[in-house]
Amino acid sequence: MTPVGEVPDDPFLPGPMAIREAELRTSKRGPRIMTTQRQRVSFVGLGYVGLCTAVAFANRGFETIGVDIDAKRVAQIETGRAPIHEPRLDRMLKTALQTKRLKVTEDVSQVRATDVIFLTVGTPSEPGGEIRLSFVEEAAREIGRCLRDEHGYRLVVVKSTVTPGTTRSTVRPVLEEASGKKIGVQLGLCANPEFLREGSAIDDTFQPDRLLIGAMDGETAARLEGLYRAFFGGKLPPTIVTTPETAELVKYASNAFLATKVSYINTIANIAQLVPGVDVEKVAEGIGLDPRIGPLFLKAGPGYGGSCFHKDLQALIAFSHALGYDPRLLGAVEEVNEEQAAKVVELSERLLGSLRDKRVTVLGLAFKKDTDDIREAASIRVIERLKQKGAEVTAHDPIAIPNARLLLGDSVEFAADSASAIRDADCCIIMTEWDEFRKLSAKDYIEAMRSPNLVDARRLYKPEDFEGLNLLGIGLGKDKARGG
Ligand SMILES: NC(=O)c1ccc[n+]([C@@H]2O[C@H](COP(=O)([O-])OP(=O)(O)OC[C@H]3O[C@@H](n4cnc5c(N)ncnc54)[C@H](O)[C@@H]3O)[C@@H](O)[C@H]2O)c1
Repeated sequence: MTPVGEVPDDPFLPGPMAIREAELRTSKRGPRIMTTQRQRVSFVGLGYVGLCTAVAFANRGFETIGVDIDAKRVAQIETGRAPIHEPRLDRMLKTALQTKRLKVTEDVSQVRATDVIFLTVGTPSEPGGEIRLSFVEEAAREIGRCLRDEHGYRLVVVKSTVTPGTTRSTVRPVLEEASGKKIGVQLGLCANPEFLREGSAIDDTFQPDRLLIGAMDGETAARLEGLYRAFFGGKLPPTIVTTPETAELVKYASNAFLATKVSYINTIANIAQLVPGVDVEKVAEGIGLDPRIGPLFLKAGPGYGGSCFHKDLQALIAFSHALGYDPRLLGAVEEVNEEQAAKVVELSERLLGSLRDKRVTVLGLAFKKDTDDIREAASIRVIERLKQKGAEVTAHDPIAIPNARLLLGDSVEFAADSASAIRDADCCIIMTEWDEFRKLSAKDYIEAMRSPNLVDARRLYKPEDFEGLNLLGIGLGKDKARGG
């Protein structure tokens, strides 16, 4: 059996008999989960979270059903090609389908055949920052209706990111009304927020830092713990069993803290940039050695992006305001992040003067490497500003161009590779830390560009390797910046 923490290459682990034993659990009131067979699981909503987790469960040998209302999405998943880019996902999806451990469908009634139903639909932002709960409510209603005539115990698990109180005050009444059952009797309900990161979603699912089980009652907690014990081969990652509200807040507090770290180091970077001889990378290294601070997530750059940080901060701010408290720190974190795109554009202006009619190349559109997700990506904020200032923008990304095209249309020229993207450019801005861009040398830029001006918003390059270029980097003090 592969121990927890190791991700097997082909993670069909552990064997069914081991699972059966692992699932035999007891509580104060006697044996609770006497499953003689593996629990069957379903996921309602097959986005990043639902699809990656469903595929992971299927690859661990669970009978898994994935449901999505988007027929095109379901049809594509059925062919074994994931609609999102995640390392290892396609290969594992194919295996899951071939072995028939994973079935995907638009028909939500199929969740009836499963013991644990994960709710993994989206919770996008409303204009005021609050989360839109309509997808969660609708999915809960459909799940409830399907379970109306069922007799066995079912567990519903809210994995979507929802503000504290949502599982108890929104999902619970909807489920109870639609199913005609009482939570805690034939139906279990808990919040179990997800912490996976896009770009490493599969690894994160097999090796999470922690599990948060926000259970409405002891039975629910024991059942979900039992399922995860089976999934992890007997040994759980660090697990906190708590109230649904606490679990829900942990998710927001985690993302708010990470976003704060990013805006914090970007603030320090913006100061460093004004001081001769200072490099924010060394500053980050220096402060990161303090164990109370730690080295992770202290990388200065163009600001955070992705589907979660901005959305979750806005939701937490709106939630807090509704309770009568103004979380000023979190507002500042968002403001600093928004302004960071302007800092990147300012660096290109320091090199070029006016941007009007200048050819500016943006290398990287995805909000980080190893994903094709451009939601809230800093590249989009930078491109919008460049366009406002009259620049002609050419962009390249190894995989995110189709998504970017949907958003940016013809306002940007998309180049098939980095070499053609930088040809005849007046300035190039590195926006995503793709390995492909790391391989470009000073010579590549000098030979291809009209004038070799480079803004390294990700600090991919060592300035000393780029002597012949006008290089400005985020958080790189004035005298290191040639042309600055
Ligand atoms: N993306 C991440 O990295 C990440 C990480 C942790 C947590 N989360 C949270 O997890 C939740 C899901 O995020 P995501 O990025 O996977 O969302 P997503 O928008 O990529 O996917 C949601 C899916 O749910 C489907 N859906 C909507 N209503 C449905 C219904 N009634 N029945 C069946 N399917 C339905 C949609 O068609 C879509 O495919 C969100 O609350 C998000 O904040 C996301």
